[in-house]
Amino acid sequence: MNTRRNFLRMGVFATAALGLPFAYACHPKQHFEPRSPRTVRRALVLWFSQTGNTQRIGRLLAAVWRKNGLEVTAAEIRQFDPGSALGYDLIAMGCPVNHYDAPGYVKSWLPRLPHLQGASVAAFVTHGLPPSNQHNTACAILELLAQRGGVPVGLATFGNFGTYPPLWAFYPESALKTSAFPNETTYDQVRQYAGELLVQASAGNAFEFSRELSFGDVKKSLAPIWFSKMITDEHSIDKERCQHCGTCAELCPTGAIDPEKGVVNKAICVDCMGCINNCPAQAVRMVYWGKPLVGYRDFLREKGIVIKEPEEISIMGKEKHEFSYN
Ligand SMILES: Cc1cc2nc3c(=O)[nH]c(=O)nc-3n(C[C@H](O)[C@H](O)[C@H](O)COP(=O)(O)O)c2cc1C
Repeated sequence: MNTRRNFLRMGVFATAALGLPFAYACHPKQHFEPRSPRTVRRALVLWFSQTGNTQRIGRLLAAVWRKNGLEVTAAEIRQFDPGSALGYDLIAMGCPVNHYDAPGYVKSWLPRLPHLQGASVAAFVTHGLPPSNQHNTACAILELLAQRGGVPVGLATFGNFGTYPPLWAFYPESALKTSAFPNETTYDQVRQYAGELLVQASAGNAFEFSRELSFGDVKKSLAPIWFSKMITDEHSIDKERCQHCGTCAELCPTGAIDPEKGVVNKAICVDCMGCINNCPAQAVRMVYWGKPLVGYRDFLREKGIVIKEPEEISIMGKEKHEFSYN
């Protein structure tokens, strides 16, 4: 009898633990008031990017809009004052999916935007392949933009060769299968998305969206950053190898790295792996579940993988506000 009762009790707990995140994820469709048609003249493209994938998509969006005659500002949010986001007709914001969610830095930066006064707003997200929770991450960005007074006009997600080092440390073969992304189809999707956003913004339309049921949301609710840090046996800077270029400290979204002292403050690190993925001197050491990790740039070099650039790269120019990754 007791065993049966315990079994039922466990069942209720398990259902609640698994069901609650699903219930949370399953929001109804969100409606927004359309605005009157207008000529879209000024656009702003913003991104947060740790290894350049989201930056590349953002710059391509900007290039397409410039080709359409728009005056476009394009910037990495860490180099952009949120207060200057006023006076734009169309704003697109992009970020990667990190640990099944939008990076914490992005979620705390967006509420610092001024009231956007009905500007058309859109989200774009880049993610690894296979993808995990990319649609809901884009919804999270769009919701934050709408809360600042933007009128949603679209959201899109674009797949990449994932930049998550444990992927090739533990599953090198399946990681290599996706090394051809982004490809020309990805870039065509970006060009098409840029065109659609322009049409929607000019018409004054409002885009309806809703989150979807996703197992990624369940994983997100299980504190993946905490778990990732728990199984990281070592995370340090090798002072002998360090060239003092400052890349790791510049990219670290929480200021957790002191390269001079060679220490990583694990209490505030969010395991985004921007440091190991961009260090040009293999000076960042991370041991994950007993395996030393190889950063993204080093892995690309080691395997001779070259990320395909869109043909507009030649006219994309260098934005004033962007990182040059190593
Ligand atoms: C620490 C870390 C966690 C990641 N978590 C996810 C994830 O949960 N889901 C996913 O689809 N991709 C994940 N990715 C892959 C990135 O979203 C993807 O590679 C993205 O294009 C990187 O963009 P960026 O180069 O602009 O930083 C992760 C990558 C890193 C480094």
